[in-house]
Amino acid sequence: MSSAKPAIPTPLTDLKIQYTKIFINNEWHDSVSGKKFPVINPATEEIICEVEEGDKADVDKAVKAARQAFQIGSPWRTMDASERGRLLYKLADLIERDRLLLATMEVINAGKVFSSTYLMEMELSINGLRYFAGWADKIQGRTIPIDGDFFTYTRREPIGVCGQIIAWNFPLILLVWKIGSALSCGNTVILKPAEQTPLTALHVASLIIEAGFPPGVVNIVPGYGPTAGAAISSHMDIDKVAFTGSTEVGKIIKEAAGKSNLKRVTLELGGKSPCIVFADADLDTAVESAHVGLFFHQGQCCVAASRLFVEETIYDEFVQRSVERAKKYVLGNPLTPGVNHGPQIDKEQHNKILDLIESGKKQGAKLELGGGPWGKKGYFIQPTVFSNVTDEMRIAKEEIFGPVQQIMKFKSLDEVIKRANNTTYGLAAGVFTKDLDKAVMVSSALQAGTVWVNCYGGGGMQCPFGGYKMSGNGRELGEEGFHEYTEIKTVTMKISQKNS
Ligand code: NAI
Ligand code: MG
Repeated sequence: MSSAKPAIPTPLTDLKIQYTKIFINNEWHDSVSGKKFPVINPATEEIICEVEEGDKADVDKAVKAARQAFQIGSPWRTMDASERGRLLYKLADLIERDRLLLATMEVINAGKVFSSTYLMEMELSINGLRYFAGWADKIQGRTIPIDGDFFTYTRREPIGVCGQIIAWNFPLILLVWKIGSALSCGNTVILKPAEQTPLTALHVASLIIEAGFPPGVVNIVPGYGPTAGAAISSHMDIDKVAFTGSTEVGKIIKEAAGKSNLKRVTLELGGKSPCIVFADADLDTAVESAHVGLFFHQGQCCVAASRLFVEETIYDEFVQRSVERAKKYVLGNPLTPGVNHGPQIDKEQHNKILDLIESGKKQGAKLELGGGPWGKKGYFIQPTVFSNVTDEMRIAKEEIFGPVQQIMKFKSLDEVIKRANNTTYGLAAGVFTKDLDKAVMVSSALQAGTVWVNCYGGGGMQCPFGGYKMSGNGRELGEEGFHEYTEIKTVTMKISQKNS
């Protein structure tokens, strides 16, 4: 992140929702079925607006447009790679111009805290697009010295029409990171935002036109998972599907890809990430990082540090400090100045989290703080801390995706590595220690796509991101992420004589 931070303005008070239709071929369409669905503000439970509900027929229309835009000889296929980059830079500039509007919209639609949305999430979106823009003319093949009189080279070509299905926890970041990587490599896109949070995606669609992308290159089809989402993952004319969401749906998507046309699949799924604090760690840093690593965005992060292992000699103090830290929140509508803890995304998540909290109480964990819903309206949950958590409890095994911290005790290094890896997930992990040798050893032993040492949650689009085990397939972001949006072609040419 850049060092100069913009001042935080107040959220817009007169936000008008302008775009509520399906975006295909740079035009706005009604749904083929005529259906619409409500978009809800999770802080108030009020309907913000209704959005056209895409389904299979709308996905088919979008695929036709994306396929047309990807034809050999089309404006998009014949465009200089640097020009693709320029269009992405332009899109980033337009998002920056509309920063306040987009941040306000994200707060209203996704229940996000305004300050971190305006500062961090908008910056990750804008700078992310610029990172992808820079890659457009740097995606290269190689020449290969094969035996015989041949000239051989590889090309990294776009895969084709890419379906992208995203979650509601970071609607704008997930959108721009997904389309940015696909477009940078020259693909065309059909993206389905989560049904809870379609609004920033539709505003960005309007900026796609303004930036000057050719029609059909980006198509955005809001709708539900089992209908519009399933139409994407089982489509015979979509070449790749990229997904962010639950492990449960990740499995369905991979199966649908296999049963249809074996489209390429990348999956960013859930986690139950361990965060290990050794007794020699800087305690202030460890408490704060572990806390933010779990409570950021009300616990609705795939990398949430939701299994916190603390060495027994510092355990009691650590629990006590973590509880003090978690007491500091001001809950409420995140548009209200001073509020720093908003609602969960919807009733379904609210119920899931409360059910898991109850299971923690029943299975014998010690409730140190919170433990229930909050307020009369909106899907709020009190910041909750459990101590004396043991590995077989549901709260230690299942992804909670809420503001619920589990603190476990460990005695030895070998024991904690085994316990940390004893999960079907493998997305992220944290290690806190001042001992460099221990930090390197534990980081190598942990089965996770990302390991943070003496910090938790940093990083950015320059780093490959993804999961071991059931946390996902493939990587997004960084150079590795681009490889997932290209096919490698080997071209071998007979020549009369090679010279070394
Ligand atoms: P979900 O996986 O059902 O939804 C994510 C996206 O998948 C949405 O766009 C949805 O419409 C789509 N989808 C749902 N069913 C589909 C299907 N059959 N075919 C194609 N697309 C489909 O996640 P949900 O229900 O919102 O949350 C459930 C749990 O998933 C959460 O409690 C959390 O544990 C986890 N989750 C993880 C996320 C992450 O960042 N990795 C993000 C969101 C949820
Ligand atoms: Mg679901």
